Amino acid sequence: MENIKIISVVGARPNFMKIASVADAINAHNTSRKPFIGHLIIHTGQHYDRKMSDLFFKELGIPAPDVNLGVGSGSHAVQTAEIMRRFEPLLLQHRPDYVLVVGDVNSTIACALVAAKLGIRVVHVEAGLRSFDRTMPEEINRVLTDAISDVLFITEISAETNLLREGVAPEKIHFVGNVMIDTLLKHLEKARQSDILKRLGLTNGKNSAADYAVLTLHRPSNVDHPGTLQTIVDALNEVAGHVPIVFPVHPRTRKAIGSLQRDLSPNVLLTEPLSYLDFLRLMADSRLVLTDSGGIQEETTVLGVPCLTLRENTERPVTISHGTNRLVPLQHLEIVEAAQQALHNGPVSGRMPEFWDGRSAERIVAVLEELS
Ligand code: UD1
Repeated sequence: MENIKIISVVGARPNFMKIASVADAINAHNTSRKPFIGHLIIHTGQHYDRKMSDLFFKELGIPAPDVNLGVGSGSHAVQTAEIMRRFEPLLLQHRPDYVLVVGDVNSTIACALVAAKLGIRVVHVEAGLRSFDRTMPEEINRVLTDAISDVLFITEISAETNLLREGVAPEKIHFVGNVMIDTLLKHLEKARQSDILKRLGLTNGKNSAADYAVLTLHRPSNVDHPGTLQTIVDALNEVAGHVPIVFPVHPRTRKAIGSLQRDLSPNVLLTEPLSYLDFLRLMADSRLVLTDSGGIQEETTVLGVPCLTLRENTERPVTISHGTNRLVPLQHLEIVEAAQQALHNGPVSGRMPEFWDGRSAERIVAVLEELS
């Protein structure tokens, strides 16, 4: 049996928790089974701040990247092109059997494209999600990556419908569940030990239930347009009159907030980006999460915490049909009323989406073994 060689790509924060479980599953496979799977992790350097990158490797026990391409920030074209330019020589040097990419960030499409052009099979983890909104840079990345992928691993059944409609051959699609949820389930107990609530002054003792909401905001469509951001901030200031809001601020958003005309309420507690375990604890104990993130819609579904997604659409419809997620139009009244209603209704329990059971990465490794 020939050994298998895989190069996995990470670049931006949401990639790290996905690769963590893939790397674990490959290691577990290698301890007891053949063929040996050689696994290199390449970090493109799309995210580079310690709090947006290194911290996650440490907390999640991800092997340090074998290579960091050190690309950094730039316009979409510059960042994507620079990743491609620096990734190609690595592929020529290592000639892996598979390049495995996750999610929908610029690093995902850039590395998939380089691999496909070199005739190296592309594996896309979290394939087939569609917001049907081409103004989202991630939607372009998703559509293009899927079009050139050879093995497509999906997290929910809507993705299969989307891929079949786009002409992807059914035998390329594998429904394995959600590797990011593998990581969540593995780390939840440890996250519960985090003292983040104490550090933020949200709870006095062990037994007192904390009373706060959590907010994250980083989509260009929400934070890059001052008018939209102002609408959201005004609404959140009103919500903060009912419940304190903890707001770990993404670097993109921090820049945008500085240019707002009105300040955030003192009841909105701004923090630096948090570590994985601190943020998981913060979400798990919150009364409500408001977000425009993709992954957080899925994590709150598993945690049973009400989630209001400040977007017109979601590429993850299972979080609405099965989970705790609700889309909220970007209008003052809509946001305030949805938040009040969610706070009034209290905790929600959804159905767990199929295969979100902590074993998705294991299924991925089994499929790749089978295909080799
Ligand atoms: C990227 C992804 C997005 C994902 C998000 C998670 C794309 C197109 N977008 O968006 O899908 O949801 O990551 O965070 O790939 N910056 C820092 N330090 C860092 C990284 C970025 O200060 O470590 C600042 C830079 O000013 C940069 C800006 O944040 O220009 C945006 O970073 P970028 O990677 O371009 O996009 P994100 O908004 O982070």
